Amino acid sequence: MDTNISRKKFLENTTMAAVAMLLKSAQGFATETQQKKIRIGVIGCGSVSTQYLPHLEKSPYVELISACDIIPDRAKKQAAKHKIPNHYPHIDQMMRGPNFDLLVNLTDMQEHGRLNKQALLAGKHVWSEKPMANTYKEGKALLDLSREKKLRLWGAPAVVNSPQFAFMAKSIREGKLGQVSSAHAHYGHTGPTWSAFFYEKGGGSLPDLGVYNLATLTGLLGPAKSVMAMTSIVTPERTVDNKGKIKVDAEDNAMVLMDHGNGVISHVQCGFNYFDPFGHEGKGQEKPSITIWGTHGNMGLVGYDWAPSGVDLVTHQNEKSQRFVPDPGGYVWQEGASVIAQSLSKGTEPLIAVEHALHVLEIIEAARESGNNGKKIKIESVFKYPIV
Ligand SMILES: NC(=O)c1ccc[n+]([C@@H]2O[C@H](COP(=O)([O-])OP(=O)(O)OC[C@H]3O[C@@H](n4cnc5c(N)ncnc54)[C@H](O)[C@@H]3O)[C@@H](O)[C@H]2O)c1
Repeated sequence: MDTNISRKKFLENTTMAAVAMLLKSAQGFATETQQKKIRIGVIGCGSVSTQYLPHLEKSPYVELISACDIIPDRAKKQAAKHKIPNHYPHIDQMMRGPNFDLLVNLTDMQEHGRLNKQALLAGKHVWSEKPMANTYKEGKALLDLSREKKLRLWGAPAVVNSPQFAFMAKSIREGKLGQVSSAHAHYGHTGPTWSAFFYEKGGGSLPDLGVYNLATLTGLLGPAKSVMAMTSIVTPERTVDNKGKIKVDAEDNAMVLMDHGNGVISHVQCGFNYFDPFGHEGKGQEKPSITIWGTHGNMGLVGYDWAPSGVDLVTHQNEKSQRFVPDPGGYVWQEGASVIAQSLSKGTEPLIAVEHALHVLEIIEAARESGNNGKKIKIESVFKYPIV
């Protein structure tokens, strides 16, 4: 009897001990998996914020702290919609408000450099929409400042994150195309209608649209060593929502040639005068927007590189075109700032690199210069290549 009782007690005790142990390890697991949330301040509550905020809101690595826009009503509305506790009409006020870790800059292109600098000086990491600065010099100074302050700085786009980019990079690396020789990329539509900055000095189709193709082609073929370009203005006057009739100052039509070394030459064309029945997103378009040729094969990226829907590959062994990676998986172009928050939270290095964004900015500036003076422009910046 005594033995039974003690056995029963023993069993009860061991069961309780096991439950306690399980609970303890579950708690440990919960603590371990409870992510450090990156506190975010978003500046610029216009068109693209409607794409970013729902993605950021869903991220387990993000706590949205503040929203800011010089049009105060926009900041107020986005704050209410996405449960952001603070909203401000000016960056100075946002910086004086509750602390945050990462500034997500979604303002006019011409404002990026100035605001990114102010954020770095205030001790914030920065994710910036493209371009990360107005000039290469300004971008380089920002990178130096971020290093000096032991902060991180990143610039859009996020095209290197797509599984289609990874597939193309791998195919090139494995020699599926033989010796790569040439590539073409294009992206255009009939131009944004809501804001004038796209057409003002510092704007243009290169930093707004060409930037994606430039990031993809340099990401796949390596840093550009030199650039030649032609640029033009096809539509000298436009009507936009925020300013009515405006004069177009920045190029709205561009062709850029890049020399990647080893004989590899590529070409990017972009513009705000491209009619496309498939619309701005190119959804349903079956023709590739990017093609890369080599001595043994060629491959085409279906859809635009910021929202790809497959890669068509032909090789000398398989002459019938075959489509790979038709599914983008979890990748969406809106993910940039969320991916960065995850990396900051976990202490991991993302594929997106500021040196790559800076390199693309140098190419854009060189293309503008070459477009003006007709000369070939040398590129000095590089980034870690291959990316994947
Ligand atoms: N709209 C898109 O689909 C899209 C997609 C990808 C990237 N982008 C990029 O996102 C950026 C913003 O584009 P958008 O289309 O959202 O423009 P937008 O005009 O709709 O929004 C920009 C917002 O920034 C605000 N702003 C400007 N200067 C500011 C300042 N100093 N402080 C605070 N707020 C300020 C404006 O008031 C405006 O509300 C651009 O770099 C653009 O290239 C836009």
